Amino acid sequence: QALVELEEKHPELIVPDSPTQRVGGKVADRFVPVAHKTPMLSLDNTYNVEELAEFHNRVMKNLGADKDVSYVVELKIDGLGVTLTYDDGVFVRGATRGDGKTGEDITLNLKTIKSIPLQIPVDKNKISRLEVRGEVYMDRDEFHKLNESRIAEGEAAFANPRNAAAGSVRLLDPKITSARPLNVFIYSLGYMEPVLYQTQDATLQALRSLGFRTNPSAKLCRNFEEVLRMVEQWRDKRSALPYDVDGLVVKVNEFRFQEELGSTNKHPRWAVAYKYEAEQAVTEVLDIICQVGRTGAITPVAVLQPVLISGSTVSRATLHNEDEIRRKDIRIGDRVVIEK
Ligand code: IVH
Repeated sequence: QALVELEEKHPELIVPDSPTQRVGGKVADRFVPVAHKTPMLSLDNTYNVEELAEFHNRVMKNLGADKDVSYVVELKIDGLGVTLTYDDGVFVRGATRGDGKTGEDITLNLKTIKSIPLQIPVDKNKISRLEVRGEVYMDRDEFHKLNESRIAEGEAAFANPRNAAAGSVRLLDPKITSARPLNVFIYSLGYMEPVLYQTQDATLQALRSLGFRTNPSAKLCRNFEEVLRMVEQWRDKRSALPYDVDGLVVKVNEFRFQEELGSTNKHPRWAVAYKYEAEQAVTEVLDIICQVGRTGAITPVAVLQPVLISGSTVSRATLHNEDEIRRKDIRIGDRVVIEK
């Protein structure tokens, strides 16, 4: 309060990273579109080791077998992709991915996330403009707490932490966003003037030392065998993380090789996602109920004997509609395989 009063009396003393600057307070009536300086591409997916090996072979074929390529393997955080722009070290704009070319300006909402620095210690003569990219997400236990309080207040529960995070950053009132337990992991550069780093590994270290929150599990792999070891290592370990990951991201480490490989209009040729097979469990259908949605649409829902999958207890599954129930011939009392 003392700081608020001081800043009211002396606006010239307000620094960009003052804690008072986190809550904008202004309620918007719409989100303004933002054109991305460099497109926010999505990743091609691989679903098994053979497909991942094909990616590696393509990389080697395109670059030449004699090239000394290393990879950085990162967790693929299951959240909402965002891009953050810093001018002379000050956070000036944050946007969603949108269609990859144009996103939406969600600066005021992103300012409320404590792990997003409002100012970074850059030498203005060295870096005039910096854009970093990352994922906004919600921890699973925070998501459950949020849902409990929503249900208690008669509001609709979010389906999963990703929807909760995406819904929270797209609220028109930043005050409500500020009460949501959001967090961020920064994983790449979107734009830098001038580019000071040569590799993804060096970039992650530099981002970390600038005060960005990067994921501690990212690992530099000197060869493809090390990449495969990471894939095996995380197959079981990922469910012990406090947040959802929907796989791994394998990136060519050297920027000169990334440039040489280039991108298609959708995906970079220097990176790929590795998706783990969905976890399954067997349980019993205890009941089939009709759930009435906000718009009045009725959806049949299976009430299940609660079962643990990927660290959370599942007790309901949507059955979509009557045709789908008939197609699968799902009945009360059936034993069913459910997949997350
Ligand atoms: S790299 C062109 N690294 O996954 C490079 N993306 O399907 C793409 N994501 O839109 C981004 N964790 O929102 C990258 N460690 C990570 C990631 C990651 C999650 C998301 C991101 C992207 C989507 C691609």
